[in-house]
Amino acid sequence: MDGTNHSRVSEFVFLGLTNSWEIQLPLFVFSFLFYVASMVGNLIIVLTVTLDDHLHSPMYFLLANLSVIDMLFCSITAPKMISDIFKKHKAITYCGCLTQIFFSHAVGGTEMVLLIAMAFDRYVAICKPLHYLTIMSPRTCLCFLVTSWIIGLIHSFVQLIFVVDLPFCGPNIFDSFYCDLPRLLRLACTDTHELQFMVTVNSGFISVGSFILLVISYIFILFTVWKHSSGGLSKALSTLSAHITVVVLFFGPLMFFYTWPSPTSHLDKYLAIFDAFITPFLNPVIYTFRNREMNVAMSRLYSRFMHYRKIS
Ligand SMILES: *[C@@H]1O[C@H](CO)[C@@H](O)[C@H](O)[C@H]1NC(C)=O
Repeated sequence: MDGTNHSRVSEFVFLGLTNSWEIQLPLFVFSFLFYVASMVGNLIIVLTVTLDDHLHSPMYFLLANLSVIDMLFCSITAPKMISDIFKKHKAITYCGCLTQIFFSHAVGGTEMVLLIAMAFDRYVAICKPLHYLTIMSPRTCLCFLVTSWIIGLIHSFVQLIFVVDLPFCGPNIFDSFYCDLPRLLRLACTDTHELQFMVTVNSGFISVGSFILLVISYIFILFTVWKHSSGGLSKALSTLSAHITVVVLFFGPLMFFYTWPSPTSHLDKYLAIFDAFITPFLNPVIYTFRNREMNVAMSRLYSRFMHYRKIS
């Protein structure tokens, strides 16, 4: 820093996705509906898994935890973005911006590790069915869960620690609808090339690394199934294709943000819609509502609830 007294930027301004009225209205309806649907869908999963004894197994515990993470994840950016859509001046405070960045990396990193845990769970269930309950014991599950939160928090903390001291003296415009690290670094009035590299390595490593690990584990599962029985492959494919869809939709945009060299592209702000709105909504749809056991449990819960309402 050059020692002069910079006037500090106290807030950042989002440009949002669009200024045109004709697009704002459908955008508002679209994002509001997706947000509500994600929250409700994931809440139903958490309630069903918690209240139904038949679903107290590792796979469903991990699924319910994924739903909690999805609810947190879409609540970091979506409510602010939705309430900002019609505002002329979409501002966020400096602290608010850092908070968004911290939680989106912490929760996003946790989700990545949890997806790996879920892939491992499917691997054990499909490839080592006789040892499933001993390998995926409640302790292992809890261990996975704690590990994923620790990795997510460390990942986020390490990046933010370098950012809190940066000077911001304007411009303060984000061409986006939420705060993200690469854009914030470009606004700092100091040379941040090394920091940008660190962010690319840290976030790029965790997203590309997890993605490769997941793809390898799914290929491995499919290969094992194919070797043992020719008939099982199509069934395994239909289960795993759901997982693979979620993984590609979640990781695709993220890998693009953090490893794409060109900072001038506007594509990333539209791709961000996938991670902010669509993936949290798709998880319940893909993992759950196609699952028979889950459907049975949900209708059981529903009739219990109706019964309770009648007698009270
Ligand atoms: C998350 O996973 C843990 C460990 O398996 C489990 O005890 C807990 O109930 C799960 N959380 C939810 C909301 O189901």
